[in-house]
Amino acid sequence: MTPFTPIPESPSLWRNRSRWNVARFWNWTLRRRLHEFIAKQNQRELAPVFTAAGAQVTKEAGSSLPHTAVTEGQLKTLLAAVAASNSIDAPIVEIGSFRGVTTKALAAATQRTVVAVDPYLGEGGHEKDFALFREHTGGMTNVRHVRDVSDSAFTSWNGEPVSLVFIDAIHEYLHAWYDFAAWGSLVAPSGFVAFHDVDAFPGVNRVCQRVLKECPQWKPWAYAPNIAIFQRCD
Ligand SMILES: C[S@@+](CC[C@H](N)C(=O)[O-])C[C@H]1O[C@@H](n2cnc3c(N)ncnc32)[C@H](O)[C@@H]1O
Repeated sequence: MTPFTPIPESPSLWRNRSRWNVARFWNWTLRRRLHEFIAKQNQRELAPVFTAAGAQVTKEAGSSLPHTAVTEGQLKTLLAAVAASNSIDAPIVEIGSFRGVTTKALAAATQRTVVAVDPYLGEGGHEKDFALFREHTGGMTNVRHVRDVSDSAFTSWNGEPVSLVFIDAIHEYLHAWYDFAAWGSLVAPSGFVAFHDVDAFPGVNRVCQRVLKECPQWKPWAYAPNIAIFQRCD
């Protein structure tokens, strides 16, 4: 693993405890709310920073697509990173796959394996979304679904490097930061980390700001409204 940034404690550590647990209240509920409050107060436009860094910046999000919040323009930006990482012979990981539209697009654009991590536990994705995921990705031999939450899937990961991570699960700061620190640590040199909902969710926006400020190994690579992509450049 790369010594990028310490991997924080797993969100499941507290989330899975009883709601009446006092330690959970202090260490998770309050902390989470405080981080979201700070994120909301400090939300910033990312386009100017990405432009200044020489990244590819697209102004239009493009038209919406069925069964996903990812737009045409965002998908184009994401698929550009898939193409740019084609020489890295390592899987792509999608954290949060919902109805499988982005999973299918990722898998159709490469021969690499696309590992889709989504527990379908009712937080964003339900059983009916899982059924649509199966429908959309059925027959794609390079898709592997891991029915688990991000942190537990990471703990079970065999340490194999990855070429691109697409983070689009729980959009709160503590979760998105965990997803970046953990899964980002597996990204091979010149690989990518992409974040969806960087403008719509203050927590994800704050994670991107932190990456820009504290992680010089991650270079801003592309931005389209609501999606930001960093490339590992150490
Ligand atoms: C915004 S949707 C993903 C959208 C998908 N990438 C797309 O563009 O079509 C978020 C997904 O994250 C999943 N999710 C919720 N908690 C999760 C967790 N802890 N780890 C991984 N995925 C999670 C939900 O089940 C939901 O399907």
